[in-house]
Amino acid sequence: MALFRLPTTTAPALAPRGHGLLLRAPQMPDYPQWSELREISRTFLTPWEPIWPSDDLTRSGFRRRLRRYAEDIAEDRAYPFLVIRESDGALVGGVTLANVRRGIVQAGTLGYWVGQPHAGKGYMTAALRVLLPTLFGELNLHRIEAACIPTNQSSIRVLEKCGFAREGLARRYLCINGVWQDHCLYGLLDEDFRG
Ligand SMILES: CC(C)(COP(=O)(O)OP(=O)(O)OC[C@H]1O[C@@H](n2cnc3c(N)ncnc32)[C@H](O)[C@@H]1OP(=O)(O)O)[C@@H](O)C(=O)NCCC(=O)NCCS
Repeated sequence: MALFRLPTTTAPALAPRGHGLLLRAPQMPDYPQWSELREISRTFLTPWEPIWPSDDLTRSGFRRRLRRYAEDIAEDRAYPFLVIRESDGALVGGVTLANVRRGIVQAGTLGYWVGQPHAGKGYMTAALRVLLPTLFGELNLHRIEAACIPTNQSSIRVLEKCGFAREGLARRYLCINGVWQDHCLYGLLDEDFRG
């Protein structure tokens, strides 16, 4: 039955582009730029993310991360993307579609970040607008979810600009920066997106 099938029999290499951005899976040559951007953005990012493992920014930590990503993509569990500015190849941030559920759900959860020097310039809104057609198209999702701490105004604004609807509040939903924190739940359906 078509509804219950995966979109392809092998993992698709997804690399959507638009608005001057390229989104693609991370590779080992990205390590220097990735680790530098994450390091200079540490104070900016850590209040909104799970606690970083102590070796998170090391080369071996990045290699382990890529191995996990490759397994996730092959198993249709998650799709990580770096956001690259096409004009100069600069790494701007990242978006991951995680927790992909098939069968009668056909949904996944978005997480995202930009480096501090790139914040507030419209990059994440543009990146999600580039990615959404791929998620509803090639990945055949019916629903995309995201969750934000209620005080994360910039993240909430990004989701609203991309058409996500606020659907509720989940109490102590995710362990962010070491604390179980309430989250606003957002959702976007394929029919919302296609209009
Ligand atoms: C959330 C995040 C990815 C947004 O990326 P970005 O590229 O800066 O987002 P954009 O520039 O596309 O849009 C940000 C919007 O938030 C608005 N905004 C920023 N700070 C705000 C504040 N304190 N109150 C209200 N709106 C705010 C901006 O004005 C902009 O909206 P506008 O276009 O209507 O003016 C980035 O801030 C980030 O990485 N934060 C840390 C990690 C994080 O929060 N990840 C998400 C966890 S749910």
